[in-house]
Amino acid sequence: MVVGVVKEIKNHEYRVGLTPSCVKAYMDAGNSVLVEAGAGVGSGFEDEEYKLAGAMILPDAEAVWTKAEMIVKVKEPIKPEYPFLREGLIVYTYLHLAADKDLTMALLDNKVSAVAYETIENQHGELPCLRPMSEIAGRLSVQEGAKYLEKPYKGRGVLLGGVPGVERGKVAIIGGGTVGLNACKMARGMGANVTILDIGAKRLAYLDDVFNGSITTLYSSKANIQKSLSEADLVIGAVLIPGKAAPKLVTKQDLKLMKKGAVIVDVAVDQGGCFETTKPTTHQDPVFIIDDVVHYCVANMPGAVSRTSTIALTNTTLEYGLKIAAHGLEKACGMCKGVAKGVNCYDGKCTLTGVSEAFDLEYTDITTLTSPC
Ligand SMILES: NC(=O)c1ccc[n+]([C@@H]2O[C@H](COP(=O)([O-])OP(=O)(O)OC[C@H]3O[C@@H](n4cnc5c(N)ncnc54)[C@H](O)[C@@H]3O)[C@@H](O)[C@H]2O)c1
Repeated sequence: MVVGVVKEIKNHEYRVGLTPSCVKAYMDAGNSVLVEAGAGVGSGFEDEEYKLAGAMILPDAEAVWTKAEMIVKVKEPIKPEYPFLREGLIVYTYLHLAADKDLTMALLDNKVSAVAYETIENQHGELPCLRPMSEIAGRLSVQEGAKYLEKPYKGRGVLLGGVPGVERGKVAIIGGGTVGLNACKMARGMGANVTILDIGAKRLAYLDDVFNGSITTLYSSKANIQKSLSEADLVIGAVLIPGKAAPKLVTKQDLKLMKKGAVIVDVAVDQGGCFETTKPTTHQDPVFIIDDVVHYCVANMPGAVSRTSTIALTNTTLEYGLKIAAHGLEKACGMCKGVAKGVNCYDGKCTLTGVSEAFDLEYTDITTLTSPC
C-alpha cells in the first residue's frame, strides 16, 4: 500500500503521524511511504531521517494526499484539507466525529474510509490509541492549570502545593479514567489536595486503593459536583462516554459557585466538553474568562509536548496501521475486531453508533460491509 504522511496544519499542532522508525516498519512490510517535506520537524524528526528509513519526500501536502492510498495523520482533517478527501481513500487519524458534523458529512459525502484512533478497541475492550494521549493530556492538565492559577495569568494566585503554614490548593477532577488518573498523579505529586469524581463504583474503589487513601473519591452526582466546584481552585473535566459527545455536567449557572480566579481545564473539549461554557481554544490563545473563572479548553493538548506525544502515539497506532496496509481495510476489519471498531465512515455510510445518534444519520454495521476472515 502507498502510505502518506502530511504535516499537521491545525493551529500549533506539532505532532506527526509516523516517526522514521514507523516508516521503516511500513517499508519492511513491503509498503511505500510518502512524506511531505518538513512533516516531522515539529517533533524533532528531520526529512533526512525519513529518507534514511526509506520514505520518499514530496514537496507539498497535495502531492501526498493525491498519491497515497492511506493517509496517516494525528488530528482530524480540517477545512483546507477537505478538498483532498476522495472516494476509497483511507484516513487513519484521530477524528472525534460526534463533535464535528461538517467533517462527518465531508467524509461521508466523499466516501472516505475513515478509521479513528479513538474508537479502536483491543481484546480487553480498552481504547489503546486514546490511552497514551490521555496519559499526556491528564498530566499536562495539572501543569497548565497550575500555570493559569498564577496571578499574571488572571488566576487566583494559588500555589497548588502550598507551603508550610499555608493550605494546599484544591483540585477537583471530574472523570477518573486515564486522564483523571494521570491528572491525579501530577496533582498529588505537586502536593495538592485532590478530589476525584466518577460514576463507576469499581473505578472509585480502584482510585482509592492506588492512592492509598491520600485523595477523596466521590460519586459524580450533581450535588457532589457542585460541592467540589465551590471548594476547588482547579477543576479538571475528564469524562468520556466512548463515541459520544461529552455530557454537560457543569452549567453556566454553576460557575457562580466557584471562587474568583479559579481555573477550569476541560480536557474533554474534544468531545464537546463537560462544561456548558466550554468552547475549543488553541495553544496560541488557550484561555478565556467567563464569570471570573479561567477556562483552558485546548482540543489538542498533547501537541504542546509534540516529541513525547508523537512517540507515545505511534507506539500504539503502528500495529493497527500495519494490519490495514498489509491486508487492505476490508480484510483487516474481518481479521481484527479492533480495526473494525475504528471504522467510523465507510463508502458513504456511518458505521459508528455514537456518530449516527449525534447527527441523526442512518447507522450501518461495518461487519456487514467488509469481508469476514
Ligand atoms: N484535549 C485533549 O487534548 C485530549 C487529549 C486526550 C484525551 N482527551 C479527552 O479526555 C476525555 C477523557 O479521556 P479518558 O481517556 O480519560 O477516558 P476514559 O474512558 O479512560 O475515562 C472516562 C471516565 O469518565 C467517567 N465518566 C463517564 N460519565 C461520567 C460522569 N457523568 N461523571 C463523572 N465521570 C464520568 C467514566 O466512568 C470513566 O472513568 C475524552 O473526552 C478524551 O477524548 C482530550
